[in-house]
Amino acid sequence: MVGSSNVVRSLVSLLWAASPVISGALPVHWAGFERQETGWPTSIDDSVFNSSWPSFGEKSQRWNAYMAPSFNQVFLPETEQVLSEGLRYMTSNNISFLAKSGGHGYSIELAAAQNVVMINMEKFNYSRVNADGTATIGSGATFLDLIRPLAAAGRQVTTGSCPCVGATGAMLGGGVGRLQGLHGLTSDNVRKVRLALWNGTVIEASEKVNKDLFWAVRGAGQNFGVVIETTFQTYPAVNGGMHYEANLAFSVDKVKKIIDDMNALVPLPAPLSLILVGSVDPSTLETIVALNLVYAGPREEGRKYTRHFQNYSLSVEENMYSWDELPIKGAGGITLIKCAKGQNHVMYGLGTKRLDAPSFVRLWSEFGDFIKANPAANSSTFLVETFAQQGIKKLPDDYSAFPHRDGVEHLVEFEIAFDDTSVSKAADAFAKRWRDHFAQPKISGYKETHIYQNYAHGDEPLSQLYGREKWRQQRLTAVKNKFDPRGVFSSYHPIPQSLDAWR
Ligand SMILES: Cc1cc2nc3c(=O)[nH]c(=O)nc-3n(C[C@H](O)[C@H](O)[C@H](O)COP(=O)(O)OP(=O)(O)OC[C@H]3O[C@@H](n4cnc5c(N)ncnc54)[C@H](O)[C@@H]3O)c2cc1C
Ligand SMILES: *[C@@H]1O[C@H](CO)[C@@H](O)[C@H](O)[C@H]1NC(C)=O
Ligand SMILES: *[C@@H]1O[C@H](CO)[C@@H](O)[C@H](O)[C@H]1NC(C)=O
Ligand SMILES: *[C@@H]1O[C@H](CO)[C@@H](O)[C@H](O)[C@H]1NC(C)=O
Ligand SMILES: *[C@@H]1O[C@H](CO)[C@@H](O)[C@H](O)[C@H]1NC(C)=O
Ligand SMILES: *[C@@H]1O[C@H](CO)[C@@H](O)[C@H](O)[C@H]1NC(C)=O
Ligand SMILES: *[C@@H]1O[C@H](CO)[C@@H](O)[C@H](O)[C@H]1NC(C)=O
Repeated sequence: MVGSSNVVRSLVSLLWAASPVISGALPVHWAGFERQETGWPTSIDDSVFNSSWPSFGEKSQRWNAYMAPSFNQVFLPETEQVLSEGLRYMTSNNISFLAKSGGHGYSIELAAAQNVVMINMEKFNYSRVNADGTATIGSGATFLDLIRPLAAAGRQVTTGSCPCVGATGAMLGGGVGRLQGLHGLTSDNVRKVRLALWNGTVIEASEKVNKDLFWAVRGAGQNFGVVIETTFQTYPAVNGGMHYEANLAFSVDKVKKIIDDMNALVPLPAPLSLILVGSVDPSTLETIVALNLVYAGPREEGRKYTRHFQNYSLSVEENMYSWDELPIKGAGGITLIKCAKGQNHVMYGLGTKRLDAPSFVRLWSEFGDFIKANPAANSSTFLVETFAQQGIKKLPDDYSAFPHRDGVEHLVEFEIAFDDTSVSKAADAFAKRWRDHFAQPKISGYKETHIYQNYAHGDEPLSQLYGREKWRQQRLTAVKNKFDPRGVFSSYHPIPQSLDAWR
């Protein structure tokens, strides 16, 4: 970022300043600013770091190393003002960037962002419960950062299972979680967001102001600006915040029975959630079948559901956890293990209406064969998230940009994990084949393919993520063009800027 590239950039900003179209948007601030070695204006230069910085690796790290973006600078704004100036500087100088909240986003589209500036939001790591019971978080807060003060205040809201995922990042795509049967998606509970647009202008969006943007942020929210702060409505914690959990293990020959029993339990009662996990023991490569059952309520009530699976399981472990302990200790701590950053993960996922037992029987067997042939991928998993739907379904279909109110009865996900990249090709082929298998209407039970945006691989037609309805596509494209006219927030499932480009 020194020498000739600065000259080029100065020329670019001069050209833009001279252009009548752009000059209106250029802030007074730019008149005669001085450049330092970073090339950034001195007023915000302190917040910009290049690869010589000892913390560069740590500050620019993300969860997934597979098809990952790369960074030449880290912009670490501490205040809204600095964030706003930085955005203005970058867009005035045609510098590409990518925001980071929790760093767990894994779409392969992110690989197109090479040598860009990371806007690391970690200094906006705050979370508080307000007097009216709402909660306000900065976009650097993880799910755990949101959960802790809520639990301390005797409140709850829908959050993901993994403590380290960005609460804002997940909300932007919808936000599925164990409490969704009671409270809907994480994004269904947003009352207000504050965001910085491409040109540094900071605005709010809510039911009162910028309503179209407010609608679009909840489901397609990576597309319009950098979200700074979000306010959620929250609820009194159920059962004093103590939730029942059971972890069951099974032999592989029980897969059909488990799937039949899961199908029979649907529709789940609102406080219930099931996560069925397929994996292998990394030392023996023996296939594992595990079921995590959480009931947001008393032990005796939760147990009724454990009984469906208990008599044919290998083992059962029951716990009562305060709901803020669940992300750390739940499922035997596996969610915490999955926080580890920097591994390669090939990710595919989709929604299904029912679980096809023969497919799962075959999947378990082929997964075992796949790992035996590719032992470097022995920390891989696949999951079925069967969460109650009441909270999602009670809202009208046009409530937000989340288009799958009848599309995520079950979420089937493939996470093929490895350090040794020689297995990448086989990993992708395996997971993609199974995603495509489950996507067939006769297997999934849905006429159309439903892809939860945050679980998308990045190769799907966007209408599978954002909905096929013309009105949705029109509304999203209109909001995109209004708030991100130059498409600078288009690294992650970008909304087409023209209606013809929808597939
Ligand atoms: C281990 C694991 C567990 C998960 N569990 C769940 C779960 O239980 N429920 C669920 O719903 N999802 C879950 N997800 C999916 C998760 O919602 C997405 O990966 C999401 O993108 C993560 O957000 P993040 O902030 O951590 O990621 P990031 O990579 O920081 O962000 C993802 C995308 O959003 C953009 N972005 C980030 N911050 C902002 C901002 N402030 N303003 C605008 N754009 C921004 C980024 O530029 C990027 O394109 C999980 C993912 C993983 C890897
Ligand atoms: C910033 O961009 C937004 C969205 O494109 C636009 O509405 C607004 O007028 C711009 N602000 C300034 C100061 O130009
Ligand atoms: C990083 O920035 C410092 C000063 O801020 C500069 O001396 C150094 O050359 C830069 N390194 C790279 C790789 O750009
Ligand atoms: C801006 O960046 C894009 C893509 O990086 C490039 O194609 C374009 O030529 C650049 N424009 C200017 C004015 O530098
Ligand atoms: C946010 O702050 C809390 C408390 O200060 C800290 O425990 C947590 O690790 C921080 N999170 C991030 C993502 O920096
Ligand atoms: C387990 O219980 C169910 C009914 O609750 C019954 O149908 C099934 O046969 C039992 N299985 C075993 C192995 O006992
Ligand atoms: C499991 O994977 C790890 C990491 O790649 C490897 O060291 C180990 O040997 C593998 N286990 C088996 C049984 O192959």
